[in-house]
Amino acid sequence: MRSAAMRRGATKASARPQAPRGGRIPASTNGRESNARRCYGNGLVRVWAVSDLHVDYRENAEWVDNLARQDYRGDVLIVGGDVTDDLPRLDATLARLRDAFQAVAFVPGNHELWVRRGSYDCSLEKFEAILACCRVRGVQTEPITLAADGRQVSIVPLHAWYALPEEHPSSLYRDRPGADDIGLGAWADTHFVRWPEAIKGRAWEYFAELNRARLSRRYTGEVVTFSHFLPRLDVGLLGRRSAGAAASERVRFNFSRVAGTDLIERQLRALGAAVHIYGHQHRNVDRTLGGVRYVSNCLGYPSERARGLLAAARLVQVWPPLTRAAEEAGGSSAPAAP
Ligand SMILES: [Fe+2]
Repeated sequence: MRSAAMRRGATKASARPQAPRGGRIPASTNGRESNARRCYGNGLVRVWAVSDLHVDYRENAEWVDNLARQDYRGDVLIVGGDVTDDLPRLDATLARLRDAFQAVAFVPGNHELWVRRGSYDCSLEKFEAILACCRVRGVQTEPITLAADGRQVSIVPLHAWYALPEEHPSSLYRDRPGADDIGLGAWADTHFVRWPEAIKGRAWEYFAELNRARLSRRYTGEVVTFSHFLPRLDVGLLGRRSAGAAASERVRFNFSRVAGTDLIERQLRALGAAVHIYGHQHRNVDRTLGGVRYVSNCLGYPSERARGLLAAARLVQVWPPLTRAAEEAGGSSAPAAP
């Protein structure tokens, strides 16, 4: 997440990964990914989660580089979107992670669909280019099934887009005292996300429909779903903070406008998910509601970590589930932040 005003103060990475020639990722030739529901071997597989890597920040890029140098080759990494809006840099980052892990599962976030660099006519065209990039790199955007120690888990990515309150009741919008920035002038997506006419005002529906085929499948073992956007508002800190906010005449950005959609919640419930991973809000959450464990492990911005709004950079193990003692002994771990 990021407002345009915040972004202007960003410190960009000095050393960028090599961009593919022409600045675009070559599309694979065989359409949709052919290894959907791929089943991995019977090794000891752990599933880790992180989101909002924002590798345009040098500190974050260095953390990911350090992570990619570790040996996670038996493990799986879920990346819940917002790596970068720079497609060559996204490609390089996913390629590095793919080399380090047995598998990497990914859904694009809102930053990935920015078209500010002029290479794409619209955000949907860029979305398709990102999926093509993932196919070429062997990054999973379709469900996969894993086995570990006699147990099985299916990881199901859920594409999504947030619903504005003016667009659909599935919006997670929550009114609060004071005046909202209804035009979202401070929200960068307003300026950098461009939909084709056919889905303007209904991007939330378009992306939810993309999950239809994966919703109708039967999955083996426990189900772990993941999305970039929030499936419900009470999995973060926003609800408590908004409820206690004082009335103000000043027009303010209300994150709940762009937080997500409860269509994600309905879909993960339909899939019988035991765990759901999400990002976007730049808060660390690990909370069980209605029998589902919701985990948000955002790397976020260096300034947010420095201010204590986010935990130190780390991965969180989401499967197999850890006991509390194992978590305290380092189950949520990763190379230290540089
Ligand atoms: Fe986001």
